[in-house]
Amino acid sequence: MSTFLKRLLGNIFTESELSKLTSSFDVIGTIVILKIPDTLIDKRHVIAATILDNIKSARSVYMQTSPIIGDYRTRKLELIAGDDNPITFYKEYACRFKVDVEQTYFSPRLSTERFRIASLTSENEVVTNMFAGVGTFSVIICKYRNVKKIYNVDINRAAHELSIYNSRLNKMDEKIECFCGDAKEIVSSSLTGKSNRVLMPLPEKAKYFVKDAVDCLEEGRGVIHFFLHVGADSKKSAIEIGKAETEDAFSEYSHDVQFLHIVREVGPRFYQLVSDVVVKKGN
Ligand SMILES: C[S@@+](CC[C@H](N)C(=O)[O-])C[C@H]1O[C@@H](n2cnc3c(N)ncnc32)[C@H](O)[C@@H]1O
Repeated sequence: MSTFLKRLLGNIFTESELSKLTSSFDVIGTIVILKIPDTLIDKRHVIAATILDNIKSARSVYMQTSPIIGDYRTRKLELIAGDDNPITFYKEYACRFKVDVEQTYFSPRLSTERFRIASLTSENEVVTNMFAGVGTFSVIICKYRNVKKIYNVDINRAAHELSIYNSRLNKMDEKIECFCGDAKEIVSSSLTGKSNRVLMPLPEKAKYFVKDAVDCLEEGRGVIHFFLHVGADSKKSAIEIGKAETEDAFSEYSHDVQFLHIVREVGPRFYQLVSDVVVKKGN
């Protein structure tokens, strides 16, 4: 996509201006979201109109005006061309999702990670997705693995409602059950000891929920996908720091970090990682 965008805007911008633009550009169904550096802000409407004219599926172009913020992990958006409609349908690995890019968190950049975790899941497992958002990980897992049950939890009511909608849209509502509320409260009231696998896709805060994730596991055993953010000078040191932080987060439990990798670079020298942690019974 970045080559495509470069070709599109090549007559308007210099090479170095273009490289800044194309590093943050997402197409989600009918919506295009991009970050525009301050130096190009005056040209935002030209950029947006060019995108709208050349990307067939695009109906709305939004500029991201804040980082991902708050408990709901949402961002502020400014419409710069097209219809003001932050709701769209998005396809991934033959599943369909209704997403609201303003009221909920959503990123197409996690698609490979979603499929990787689905591929690791076994038949008949029970899975808890502690920070489910609009339900993307859960639907992809359910599509590719004949799991027994998936429990979704999210504190944001808009995300919770879309996760119910998306489970129905993909005909998985018998297998996916959705809870709205704080993961700590929902785990202790309804999900203790039920799961074989737990997803923790909240890299900013997952370390504060490790006990709750372990509490979800049936007989204290299972796999936890622990997401984290790491600031580091290189990918190699990001892996080393991530490994040390994972070991620290799980130090109270008998465990084995089976796999750890960088999911994506989320900023300059700032990485999102995931560790696959096997938790065993006892200390
Ligand atoms: C990074 S997003 C999840 C992304 C999602 N898994 C996906 O692939 O699209 C993190 C989610 O955690 C939710 N969240 C934040 N704090 C929470 C808490 N204490 N309990 C439950 N959900 C929480 C947010 O509302 C947000 O939807």
